[in-house]
Amino acid sequence: MGGSFALRGDICWSKSAAELSCVKDGYLVCENGVSRGVFEELPAGLEGIEVIDRRGRLVVPGLVDLHLHAPQYGFRGLGMDLELLDWLDTHTFPEEGRYADLGYAERAYQVFADDLLHSATTRAVVFGTIHVEPTLRLMDLLEETGLKTFVGKVNMDRNSPDYLRERSAKASLSDTRLWLGRVGERGYENTLPILTPRFTPSCTDELMAGLGQLREELRLPLQSHLSENLSEVEWVRELCPWSSCYGQTYERFGHLSGDVPSVMAHCNYCPEEEIEILKGSGCFIAHCPQSNTMLSSGIAPIRDYLERGMNVGLGTDIAGGASLSLFRAMADAVGVSKLRWRCVDETLRPLSTSEAFYLATAGGGSFFGKVGSFDQGFEFDALVLDDSALRTTLECSLEERLERYVYLEAEGGRICDKFVAGRRLQI
Ligand code: GUN
Ligand code: FE
Repeated sequence: MGGSFALRGDICWSKSAAELSCVKDGYLVCENGVSRGVFEELPAGLEGIEVIDRRGRLVVPGLVDLHLHAPQYGFRGLGMDLELLDWLDTHTFPEEGRYADLGYAERAYQVFADDLLHSATTRAVVFGTIHVEPTLRLMDLLEETGLKTFVGKVNMDRNSPDYLRERSAKASLSDTRLWLGRVGERGYENTLPILTPRFTPSCTDELMAGLGQLREELRLPLQSHLSENLSEVEWVRELCPWSSCYGQTYERFGHLSGDVPSVMAHCNYCPEEEIEILKGSGCFIAHCPQSNTMLSSGIAPIRDYLERGMNVGLGTDIAGGASLSLFRAMADAVGVSKLRWRCVDETLRPLSTSEAFYLATAGGGSFFGKVGSFDQGFEFDALVLDDSALRTTLECSLEERLERYVYLEAEGGRICDKFVAGRRLQI
């Protein structure tokens, strides 16, 4: 943590989805890991603190990836010619099966953890696989990076090949308890466990019920997938004839309610009843626009969710999405919202770039508590960005520089510094 310091630079952060704040050549003050706020001059009493001089650079909150699969990192960018259910069978399950081998998992997760450390992501909510030891290795490696993450050992006891299916609901639950016990023994500072039923088609009702009890008993957060693809939604209807919507297949087992939040990826095809369930429980929605594009899944009505005051953030959904970059996810969120507006529903205005920036910072950040903003009292997660290689002869405002960074990041944007909860990471 290390006491107090200020970052001096060109500072941008979201006050809300609707309001972007920009202070040119300002001071962002950190006290014991928490933001004291942004100031045009150092406030009285703080004149003597260390000032990290980043004049001319952009300073923005760390970015939050609300949904990605660590064991899919190796095949991202490959096999993007199928829809969800065939993609799982053809590419995803065979690769995740390889993580039974701890040596393979170790090598692959080292690459993932390294790349995540060097990306713009400061916090992430991550799927592992069904395997206990390999998932613990993933957590060890992420812990070392200093990034703050939730990581889940996946639960699957049906509708997958033998090599990637737990023997029974009981076996899945006892492995989950074993994993949670080992996580407790390790005493991580940055890495927290999250219950992870893969999605309803992969989990029997008995397993879902057991996970609901575990969630209540241990007050654990939970992550899964919801209403991503039309064939998936139809399959859930057949598998759970007692349900009136897909969301009910989680709600009924206590996966959404309670005082710790859950996060559901996608939510592209939620009927009104499901939206009410999500809103009423405070569930987070992880919007994953690149994945939804590449798997031809659909386009979530994010404008509607924001207008209803629901919790929404962005996810890369590696490897449904190929890019680990949340700047790319912001650009894609804007892009797909425009196509949805033009091709599907002209009543829902497209997202603006600053709204997408909000989703990737404060929107998803609130899953972690007071995270994703520079307002006083928020955890001090910050990125210093060099946009000098993104050349233009235009005179750009600070807001325009941020906008260009979102769209042009891959053409020469550079991350200079990365802070998480006041700690500077070695990138
Ligand atoms: N639904 C169930 N499993 C998965 C997965 O691995 N990726 C995506 N995008 N959707 C899923
Ligand atoms: Fe996913």
